[in-house]
Amino acid sequence: MTELKYISGFGNECASEDPRCPGALPEGQNNPQVCPYNLYAEQLSGSAFTCPRSTNKRSWLYRILPSVCHKPFEFIDQGHITHNWDEVNPDPNQLRWKPFEIPKASQKKVDFVNGLHTLCGAGDIRSNNGLAIHVFLCNTSMENRCFYNSDGDLLIVPQKGKLLIYTEFGKMLVQPNEICVIQRGMRFSIDVFEETRGYILEVYGVHFELPDLGPIGANGLANPRDFLIPVAWYEDRQVPGGYTVINKHQGKLFAARQDVSPFNVVAWHGNYTPYKYNLENFMVINSVAFDHADPSIFTVLTAKSVRPGVAIADFVIFPPRWGVADKTFRPPYYHRNCMSEFMGLIKGRYEAKQGGFLPGGGSLHSPMTPHGPDADCFEKASKAKLAPERIADGTMMKLSSSFKTELQSMGQLSLSNTLLLRLHLKR
Ligand SMILES: [Fe+2]
Repeated sequence: MTELKYISGFGNECASEDPRCPGALPEGQNNPQVCPYNLYAEQLSGSAFTCPRSTNKRSWLYRILPSVCHKPFEFIDQGHITHNWDEVNPDPNQLRWKPFEIPKASQKKVDFVNGLHTLCGAGDIRSNNGLAIHVFLCNTSMENRCFYNSDGDLLIVPQKGKLLIYTEFGKMLVQPNEICVIQRGMRFSIDVFEETRGYILEVYGVHFELPDLGPIGANGLANPRDFLIPVAWYEDRQVPGGYTVINKHQGKLFAARQDVSPFNVVAWHGNYTPYKYNLENFMVINSVAFDHADPSIFTVLTAKSVRPGVAIADFVIFPPRWGVADKTFRPPYYHRNCMSEFMGLIKGRYEAKQGGFLPGGGSLHSPMTPHGPDADCFEKASKAKLAPERIADGTMMKLSSSFKTELQSMGQLSLSNTLLLRLHLKR
């Protein structure tokens, strides 16, 4: 695979054209009477036309055929996704999942879309207010199929196996310990190279932002320059047998046929794009005196609600770092809080749970449900000599990262009942 190129920066106004078609990007206007190379101009809006400049998002795509050239959408099999949070009785217990099983390619071919399973969620998809957490469990590339989500942004966290993601804006390679965000409406198709697994945080109706830094200052946590945007790439590919565009609309799946690949955008410009980020670039802030800062210091991206300081969801990581606090119980403190916390593990082991929480699994702690280190961890940490120590280094791998999402405003995360996976109550 030749190395892919990217544009660096978060939320910038960018412009890109496939080098095979120099001059494809119109100059001085968005919608010429005739575009260079007779391309079609198409705007993709990620915000209301009238949003303030600071939140206004749109891109102009110059493509071989407009997206509208497709047959009507039809309702299709819904697989394992849902947005109905009333299917299962609520459960305030701490819940933990073993690693979600990936189907064997020798038994059944499953691609990214067929392999989507909704775990839990909250809020209301129709009023664009809430979120869902899914896992994807697949073993086969999407073949002449693409997907787009009309309901919100998808933050994709591969845990096992890399993803080659074709988008209308170009190609991205996303490996475990990297994340990517495919924003609302963007078409994409995913190639995989082995039995592949990962997590998805979907937020309805809002976009992910970098958190404000307050007194931290202008630098730190996830720095804007480390976010990478694909460069324009197109294929002029006819698909005589039909290309399938799958759409998630109001939580339901629909499919439409067309005769060409949707990845026919020769040039684009704008500030509404997919992007990826390597979690190794996260600059960790922590206490260097005593006690803990709250885990919000580990926020990579946030999806803000309309209440100041309160997120619909925060994407938070616990990366490898030094622990140096004096006279302090160093593992995460016991606590109860007003948020739901879903946690996944990319690799290594989670510092507060020395056994039983494995990469590719998950846990859910509901609002005000008590949680904290297990008894062994408490014993050891209470007696430990407090020297500087590495935290969260993996046992097999150099790096380990766990992530969790925190829900602050949408009430409680409710479980889906579509997931035919093993659910374990932790005692
Ligand atoms: Fe917690």
